[in-house]
Amino acid sequence: MVIAMRTIEWDQDSRSVKMIDQTLLPQEYRVIKCNNLALLCEAIRSLRVRGAPALAAAGGFGIALAAELSSANTMEKLLKDLQIAANTLKATRPTAVNLGWGVERVMGAVSHAYDVAGIRDIATSEAMRLADEDVLINKKLGEYGASLLDDGDTVLTHCNAGRMACVDWGTALGVIRSAVEDGKEINVIACETRPLNQGGRITTWELMQDNIPVKLISDSMSGHVMYKGMVDKVIVGADRITEDAVFNKVGTYTHAILAEEHKIPFYVAAPVSTFDFKNWEENVEIEQRDADELRFVGDVQIAPLDVEVYNPAFDATPMEFVKAIITENGIFRPPFLLDEVRT
Ligand code: MRU
Repeated sequence: MVIAMRTIEWDQDSRSVKMIDQTLLPQEYRVIKCNNLALLCEAIRSLRVRGAPALAAAGGFGIALAAELSSANTMEKLLKDLQIAANTLKATRPTAVNLGWGVERVMGAVSHAYDVAGIRDIATSEAMRLADEDVLINKKLGEYGASLLDDGDTVLTHCNAGRMACVDWGTALGVIRSAVEDGKEINVIACETRPLNQGGRITTWELMQDNIPVKLISDSMSGHVMYKGMVDKVIVGADRITEDAVFNKVGTYTHAILAEEHKIPFYVAAPVSTFDFKNWEENVEIEQRDADELRFVGDVQIAPLDVEVYNPAFDATPMEFVKAIITENGIFRPPFLLDEVRT
């Protein structure tokens, strides 16, 4: 199957946000269009579009959509409408810093407009520029990261940090794709990533499209495969990187500890937009998700309906376990000086 479009795009004809509905993968490849903000927010909340860099694009396109739909005829009224939209978009998923970054980037650009039409034009063009840049950034990051991989390596990854988590190419999987493009043979072990199975459903599907060898394991098997010597490196993406921790899909912390114990390098691949230079781990809100994600798999009940559930979407891995962070500005090693990353 050929993936005919980017993960998320602006559709100029219908003036809507077009995306691959990731909740349906791998059984069905369906493209949906969100022609109002409520639909887009629902798509973000329910993970039809997901992954930190893809959420940045969703945030940017959300402002473009709000600008299109607003009937405001003065700059003041339109900017007020956009501010409401910005707050609504940012509240959909609190942990992935890229969502707010994408929203703010387009909001910043429209503040330079001279009239109402200018605001609308700038919102769309800036959001499209952000999406184009995401692809280039991931390619660059991939080129840097490929140097960390050796021919014949087996890389364990968690969740999906591939093209479906970005506009295209991917961060952690982008590094693997770039290494494969360089002629290296890379095998991947994908952790299924309970409860929503982004690893089992999306990472495996993506890699199989590219004929990159991948083995699926359950999350609880990562210690076993490391102990058995089946893993050379771990590479994950990130939803937010503070001075002291990397936030990524829940389960990442466990793999990091296990990698440390087995002397396997644990790498993080993320664009600079994922760095949060203002916060520390303790200040970051971790998104809590619906209890039914653990009580059901699809429509099948797998736990008592009234069981109490704890379902954080992300965890924090302290920096001491991170051997390198791969960005579009290069590879950074401890001690991570976040100001250096930015330059
Ligand atoms: O809840 P999700 O599916 O949006 O979580 C995604 C992840 O945790 C990814 O690993 C992260 O966003 C990095 S994607 C390049």
